Amino acid sequence: VIGALFSLARPALHVLDPETAHHASIRALSLLPPRAPQPDDPRLNVSAFGLDFPNPVGLAAGYDKQCDVPDQLLGLGFGFVECGGVTPLPQPGNPRPRVFRLPRDGAVINRFGLNSDGLSAVSQRLRRRRGRPGIVGVNLGANKETRDRIADYVMLVTRLCGLAQFLTINISSPNTPGLRDLQGEAFLDELLARCVAARDEADGAIGYRTALLIKIAPDLDEAALDGLVATALARGVDGLIVSNTTTARPADMKESAVAGEAGGLSGRPLFLRSTQVLAQTALRVEGRVPLIGVGGIDSAQAAIAKFRAGASLVQLYSALVYQGPGLVPAIKDGILDHLRQAGAARIEDIVGADMAAIAADPAAALQMQAA
Ligand SMILES: Cc1cc2nc3c(=O)[nH]c(=O)nc-3n(C[C@H](O)[C@H](O)[C@H](O)COP(=O)(O)O)c2cc1C
Repeated sequence: VIGALFSLARPALHVLDPETAHHASIRALSLLPPRAPQPDDPRLNVSAFGLDFPNPVGLAAGYDKQCDVPDQLLGLGFGFVECGGVTPLPQPGNPRPRVFRLPRDGAVINRFGLNSDGLSAVSQRLRRRRGRPGIVGVNLGANKETRDRIADYVMLVTRLCGLAQFLTINISSPNTPGLRDLQGEAFLDELLARCVAARDEADGAIGYRTALLIKIAPDLDEAALDGLVATALARGVDGLIVSNTTTARPADMKESAVAGEAGGLSGRPLFLRSTQVLAQTALRVEGRVPLIGVGGIDSAQAAIAKFRAGASLVQLYSALVYQGPGLVPAIKDGILDHLRQAGAARIEDIVGADMAAIAADPAAALQMQAA
């Protein structure tokens, strides 16, 4: 029903500027009563990070930035929802306009710069939904004007443990100056050591287990990935999310005027690069922690490519702008069809199946699979 409503409302939403349309969609969802998620086909169940996901299709960070409607989003059929990015103090983000649609590319460019209601407001909203079913995570970012970025993340972890099932250390937003520097080995080692210690202490006090993930950029080369993965595994993170938006602009984009806007590019033009970095990460992680694949998923086939590249779970955002929430059940149905055809009982049977080929040449490997 909501998918059909979206089809009716989409022309009106796309007349509005993207940020206004986004607020309108959150407002519309907030008018719905929170619905308990419907049960999924058991073949879609995935266990990862100590959590049992009813299905592997999640909503990526950046849609429900202020944690207004996680339960309504779970009711649309997502297996999990990542709210945020949240910063310790409220901050306005960059001046508008700061988000752009590229319809012919199936893409979005954003430079929100982590506009956030701040930790107090978001933790209050999470406290109100405590005890509700469904897996909700929170994406964490440092304040732009902070003097100590690591202390920002530590504070967020300490205060949000017990209010979400997983927390994502976002060190890959391209729109906060210097944030991506935290992906360097020395910084990352200290950041993760302190965040893991803060998580262990906060969880220990309340007898809870909060998974701690990191989210990385698709613009890292293989040498940077070597150090990053080694550090993340040594410090005991529970998983990695690959990837955030890219600062690159593929040469074949059709909306060349809008493509020149500064910010992070997401959607279809991000698919090949983010899937390649996912496979390169999976080759280094060697199954020691699960990965979440994000970037350009707009169909079941794209989601399946992420599993074959090494993801146990997937997330999406940009394709929802163009296809609406009906995409979520369509992807779940397509995954089930694929499992049937591949003679696989569960998603884990196809995870990493084409890892090496996709890491080397994603275009060739994925064309082969489609053929
Ligand atoms: C408008 C917008 C805002 C976003 N905000 C965040 C954010 O706050 N934190 C984060 O880690 N990723 C953020 N992202 C990145 C997405 O979570 C995702 O990694 C990226 O868009 C690639 O997925 P997609 O191609 O399915 O959109 C944002 C993306 C968009 C389009």
